[in-house]
Parts: sequence; C-alpha cells; structure tokens
Amino acid sequence: MTPSKKLHIGMSLAPTWLSGDAWRRPDSGVEGLYGSDFYLDIAQRAERAKLDFAFLPDSLFLNTDLLASGTGFASLDPTLLLASIARETSKIGLLSTASTTFFPPYIVARQIQSLNWLSNGRAGWNIVTALDGNGNFGLTEMPSPEDRYARAAEFTEVVRRLWASFPQDALKLDKAGGRFANPDGVKAVDHQGAFFSVKGPLNLPRYDKAPIPLVQAGASAAGRAFASSVADAIFASTPDMAAAIDLRSDLRSRAEAQGRQGDDIRVLPGLSLYLAPTQAEAQELFAETNARMSRQRAFATVLEMTGLDLSDWPADSNVTASDLPPPPEKVRSRTHSQLLRRMIERDEPTLEDLLRRPEVIGSAHWLVVGTPADAVAAIKDWAAGGAIDGFVAFPGGSVESVQLFLEQVVPALSDLGLFRKDYRGTTFFDHLNDR
Ligand SMILES: Cc1cc2nc3c(=O)[nH]c(=O)nc-3n(C[C@H](O)[C@H](O)[C@H](O)COP(=O)(O)O)c2cc1C
Repeated sequence: MTPSKKLHIGMSLAPTWLSGDAWRRPDSGVEGLYGSDFYLDIAQRAERAKLDFAFLPDSLFLNTDLLASGTGFASLDPTLLLASIARETSKIGLLSTASTTFFPPYIVARQIQSLNWLSNGRAGWNIVTALDGNGNFGLTEMPSPEDRYARAAEFTEVVRRLWASFPQDALKLDKAGGRFANPDGVKAVDHQGAFFSVKGPLNLPRYDKAPIPLVQAGASAAGRAFASSVADAIFASTPDMAAAIDLRSDLRSRAEAQGRQGDDIRVLPGLSLYLAPTQAEAQELFAETNARMSRQRAFATVLEMTGLDLSDWPADSNVTASDLPPPPEKVRSRTHSQLLRRMIERDEPTLEDLLRRPEVIGSAHWLVVGTPADAVAAIKDWAAGGAIDGFVAFPGGSVESVQLFLEQVVPALSDLGLFRKDYRGTTFFDHLNDR
C-alpha cells in the first residue's frame, strides 16, 4: 500500500510544550496561557510553515489532582479560541473539538458553521465521544462505548442535516427586489431518533464554498466503524509503526466496504516531539520535563487501563503478558488500554522502562526524542511504510521544540517532496484534498 504522496500535517495548539515541568522554564510564556496571543503566535508560525491545520483537542472537566503541578486540563473553549485566531490568519485550517456525548447537536452545528464563516471556510470538527466529564452534565457515569458511538452517529447525521437545511444559495441578498432569502430553499430537518429530536432548520446559512472536514478520534472497533463511515481524517494514537499500519489498513478497508475510497480517510497519528540541536540535549529535555511525573500517577494509569497493580512490583522483574489480569470491564478508553496491553505483550518491559513509555506517560502517541534530522528520518520511514497519511504534531518540553519542528522539520519534509511548499487553496477542505 502506498501512502498519499504529500503528507497532511496539523499542529496541536494544546500547549504540550508546557507539559510536565516545561511550563517552569523561564521562556515558557505560561503567563499568557489564557489569552489568545500565546496561541496566535504558534498558529501564525504554523501557517508560515504551510501546515494543513491548527488543532485544539478539548475536555469538559478539570482534574484537580493534576492541578498542583500542571494545567489539569484547564483550557480555553476551543471554538472560541479558534474564532479569535481566524481573524489573524488566512489559510490554515482550524480544527475544533466538540463532544457528541455532552453537547446538543444544534449548538455544535451552529458553532462549527459559525467558525467556518468567520474563517472563510477553514473550520473542521473533531468528533469525540469524550473520556470523562459526565458529572458536569447530569450523568452519574459515562455511557457505555456502544451507547456513546450510537449517539455519535446520530449526532453527526443531525449536524450534517442541519448544515444542509439552510443552503447558502437560499440567500438572495437582492437589494433592488427587496428579497433577502428564499424561504422555500430552507427546510426543517424534523429529526426524531433514539437520542435526539431536532426540528431545524439551522439559524445560520451554510458556507457553501467549503465543506467542513470531519475528523474523528477514538479507535476501538465501534470507533473505527463510525469513523470509516463519516470521517475525512482520523486523529489516532499509534505509539509504534506496526500499530499505525494495522489501523490505517483496517480503516481503509472499512471505508471501501462502505462504498468510499481508501484515500477518503486520512490517518493522522499524534506525534510527540522532544527536539533539540543534539541527541543528548533532547534526551535531557525529555528526562527533565518528565522528572516530576509521579510514580503514583503512572501506577494509577496502568491500574485503570489494565487492572495490573504495579505499586509493589520488584524492580528486577519484567512485566509480561502472563501478568496481565483480564481487561477491566470499564476503562476510560479502550483504545488506550489496548495499546498498553499490546506493548506489554510484545516488549515485556522492565518496570522502569514501562513507566517511561508513551502508553503510560503520554497519550500513547508516536514519540521522537532527538534532533530535527531524527524526526525527519522517522516521518520519512513511517510514510514510506504506508503507516500514515500525515500526523498531528505535539511538540513537548520547550518552546524550542515547537520552533525546531516548524522551522526545520517541516521545511526538510518539503525539500524531500513529502510536504507542500505552498498552499494551493484557501480552505481546510482544499488542504486535505491537496495530495
Ligand atoms: C488520539 C485520540 C484523541 C482524543 N481526543 C479527545 C479529545 O480531545 N477530547 C475528548 O473528549 N476525547 C478525546 N478522545 C476520546 C475519544 O473520543 C473516545 O471517547 C475514547 O477514545 C473512547 O473511544 P475508543 O474506545 O473508541 O477509543 C481521544 C481519543 C483518541 C484515541
């Protein structure tokens, strides 16, 4: 299988370069965390690098246990923040995240279509079924994954129908004739389903020049079935190349089985990058950043995801498949727990090694700790291996990591012919279709 010729690259604006202890660095800029300039600077640099999109993940809860040492998921509302960035950029796509578990579809349809107008066709919607936050929305527990995906499917259908309910060509703006719009072109959706009852139409016309790309995050069987039916791209967690190849080929065949083309669905893993001018400095950056990551938290993560309690684990004993209890009935994310089990089964790591792996300390993202040239080599390798159609960059450890990525890694990928040298269109949809 050959990858698309050009990669699609997104830049996460979630400030992963402030994670761990990185926010404590003198030049971190953390004081600006809840203002727009902080993000705008990165979005503009990403636009100068000609990236497909700037991306904001989101969660709707605060983890107060983490708050003493880091942000604890405190963040600005992603769609509002991207709206402020829209005015100061002109080409880069703006991918926001909205949960199908907690929001009503009418609100999401309106917010994302508003962002599409405000950005002249650059909005995208990252569809998530969410990991936590039920207590903030009147739910005693998170709905089961099956329920969440059934709801996500109906939710997405309703949003698409709402977008179609008021096509732009119903707007006439005929000043001489005094005709603002043609109401006959605007249709109710009259949706009655298992989860939602929505009359419509949407109180905002569709911005017809640019369809809104749909991105999905979540990769259990239910997640893949859903993604392959609607998504233009998948935001994935693939800590190793084999996981990415499996996921990509599975999603392509699922898309084909539903009458779509394999290329309609672009697999974009998260890529966590700790970059520095030398290997040794990058390793030091990684170690320093994660030095205070509490062992208790890492143990709690492993316990939640696999049911395995490592708190009294002997230091000289490897963790193997036979140590894994049967998977817990309920986990926050089946995707993340399967990736961790898979790594233990395959690598049989020592305790210390296990506690350093991206499956435990990060979001199970592909991880490069090294120089810009190391990152270019890894990306080239994964692209040649048919593992990716692109990626979403999550620079870590320092502001320098961000700059090295945008100012050295991306131009080197362009020079190799793996990435565009300039934009060929002006909308997010254009960029995703620029191959
Ligand atoms: C790479 C990745 C990114 C995700 N990003 C978000 C996010 O920003 N906000 C959120 O609420 N959930 C996020 N999720 C959670 C998923 O939407 C989903 O609820 C979760 O992974 C459980 O579904 P699964 O078992 O299919 O993976 C993400 C999941 C993955 C794998």
